Order: sequence, then C-alpha cells, then structure tokens
Amino acid sequence: MPDVSNTLKLTTHNSQLTTILAIESSCDDTSASVIQDSKILSNIVASQEIHAKYGGIVPELASRAHQQNVVAVVDVALREANIQKNQLNAIAFTRGPGLLGSLLVGVSFAKAMALGLNIPLIEVNHMQAHILAHFIDDPKPKFPFLCLTVSGGHTQIVLVEDFLVMHVLGETQDDAVGEAFDKAAKMLGLPYPGGALIDKYAKTGNPNAFLFPLVDMPELNFSFSGIKTSFLNFINKETMKNANFIEQNINDICASFQFTLIKNLLYKLKKAIQQTGIKEIAIAGGVSANSGLRETLILLGEKHSWNIYIPQFQYCTDNAAMIAMVAHYKFLQNDFSSQNISPMARWEI
Ligand code: KG4
Ligand code: ZN
Repeated sequence: MPDVSNTLKLTTHNSQLTTILAIESSCDDTSASVIQDSKILSNIVASQEIHAKYGGIVPELASRAHQQNVVAVVDVALREANIQKNQLNAIAFTRGPGLLGSLLVGVSFAKAMALGLNIPLIEVNHMQAHILAHFIDDPKPKFPFLCLTVSGGHTQIVLVEDFLVMHVLGETQDDAVGEAFDKAAKMLGLPYPGGALIDKYAKTGNPNAFLFPLVDMPELNFSFSGIKTSFLNFINKETMKNANFIEQNINDICASFQFTLIKNLLYKLKKAIQQTGIKEIAIAGGVSANSGLRETLILLGEKHSWNIYIPQFQYCTDNAAMIAMVAHYKFLQNDFSSQNISPMARWEI
C-alpha cells in the first residue's frame, strides 16, 4: 500500500458497510456514483453537449465543463444515494487513460474531498472499469474471461484473470473503433458522436451494399485508420456523381460500414477464443451499445456454445458506477493512493 497516513479513517476491518464515492471525468462525461459494499446506490452522468457543434471533443471545453459540473453531479449522486459526506469511507477517481485536462478536474476534486474528510483515495484505471461494469448486475462472467473493450478511445481484447488482474492480448495500433464510427458519421454530415446514429440507420440497410477494405493486422491487433480514408474517398467519389447519394443511400452506407467493423472485431475475438480456449466472453465500452455487435455476438455465442455477457446500455458508455466497482475491489485489498498522485493520459491496464 502507498503512503497513506495511519491516521486516516480506515474501516476495512470493522463490520460496518463500506461506502465509496467515485468520480469519472476522463473524457466528455462528468459522472459520480456511490457504492455501498458492492451495491451501486446512485450513478449520475452529465454529458457535455457543447462538443456536438464542433464535430468532436474540444479538450479545453471538456475540462471547463467538468469544472462547472462536478460539484453539482457529486451533490446529486450523494443525495440520490441518501448518503452524507461523513458516511464516506473513501473517494475514488479515474486516474487515466483520458484527456489530461479532464482527468485533472476529477483528480483535484477527489484529492480535496478526501483530504477534507480525512479518508483515503483510490485511483482507478478507466479501461479496467469498463470491464468491471460487468460486476454491477447479474449475470456476472466467471474468471478467466475474455473482454472485447470497444470505446471512443480504445479497442482491446483483454484476458481477465481476476477483478484486478488483466492482460491485453491485442489492441488497435491507430484509431479506436468508436473513432472510426464517429469520423464516418461526421463525413455523412451526422452530429457528434455519431456511432449511435450509424447504428440506427444500419438497422434497415443492406450490409452487403458497399464494400470497404479493412487492413488485417497481425495477431490479435486492429487498425481502423485505413477504413476511414477509404470511406472518405468512397463518399467523395459517389457524391461527385450524385449530389444526393448520401441521403438516398444512408441506410445501406451505414449498414455496410458497420458490418465491416463488426466482422473485423468478431473475427479477432474468435481468434482469441481459439488461442486461449476461454468461452466466457464479454464486451464493454461505448461501442458495446451497438445493436449489430450485440446481436451478432449473441448469435455466434449460441452457435459456438460461448457464454456471452453484454452490459446494460447505461453501463456501456462512460459512467462512474464502473469506477466505483473497481474502487470496491481495491478497497477490499487496502489498495489506496497518495495525495501526491497526478493523472495519466496514457495508462496500460
Ligand atoms: O466508452 P465511451 O463512452 O467513451 C470512451 O471511453 O471513449 O465510448 C464512446 C464511443 C463513441 O465513439 C460513440 O460513438 C460510441 O461509443 N457509441 C456507439 C454506440 N453508442 C456509443 N458506437 C456504435 N454504436 C452505438 N450504438
Ligand atoms: Zn470509456
């Protein structure tokens, strides 16, 4: 355990319930959650609308919005959980990976609150948290399991041996799959973040209408930057021939693009299953909200006798309940952080 003073109010070894406040501020959602033992009592998320008009996240605006939101979000999370500040046993926060300025708001707030209440701090890795979101509700995966974590910033296949023991088996070498969704959506003139809209249009489109080449990386790694360029070239070429091409074909374009991404994700996941022999399979992160990915994985699971775990929609995208879940397991191990801690924009799990 790091340098936490013995005078802190540590309550691990008494019979009281353990109550932790968790704060998430790694990207463009300010969120706070209260967990009591392993039960989530509240999970408040304030999404930042401001980025939509810029077509992507503006880091400076994100950190400013976190600053404006954090006090109110924490307040509502405590109120909804019916918890007073003096009942808290620890403050948890996302240390990384994420946008440095955004992380800094959560880290500073958590440090100040822990210092004021004289309770310990718990640092949480955002990518670990996406995976432990599976332990909020039933059914829970059994160890060891594989998790395909797909978000706006990451694409990873992770071998999860235990709550806090994880190994990345493969990951993207450039763009994340969520980024590919969002950039394609932007090229189609859809508002940011466009992943969910592509999903919506894809539902009634033909996935085989158009072909988009995708680079197959070695081993269990991914690459999604090439498909972005070929998508842009395709859209430019077709709209030069027909100015109404996008609006006339939006469903087929989205279905074909989404199908290419899902096929690649699931091809690599299947490869990881064959290599490890593990048949407990989870997906996590914002893109795990994608209905095409969810439905195809369920069908594959039935076909190959894999046990599939898909998080509830509210726990796919960024939220503090998943941060609280990691904090719960760290608290059980007395794994606390020092007041000298600083955020980390990059941080392997
Ligand atoms: O996990 P997340 O909330 O934030 C990061 O940690 O990055 O993921 C956000 C990403 C965005 O790229 C968003 O477009 C994507 O998740 N996303 C979706 C869907 N819902 C959210 N992508 C495809 N289909 C969806 N239904
Ligand atoms: Zn995330």
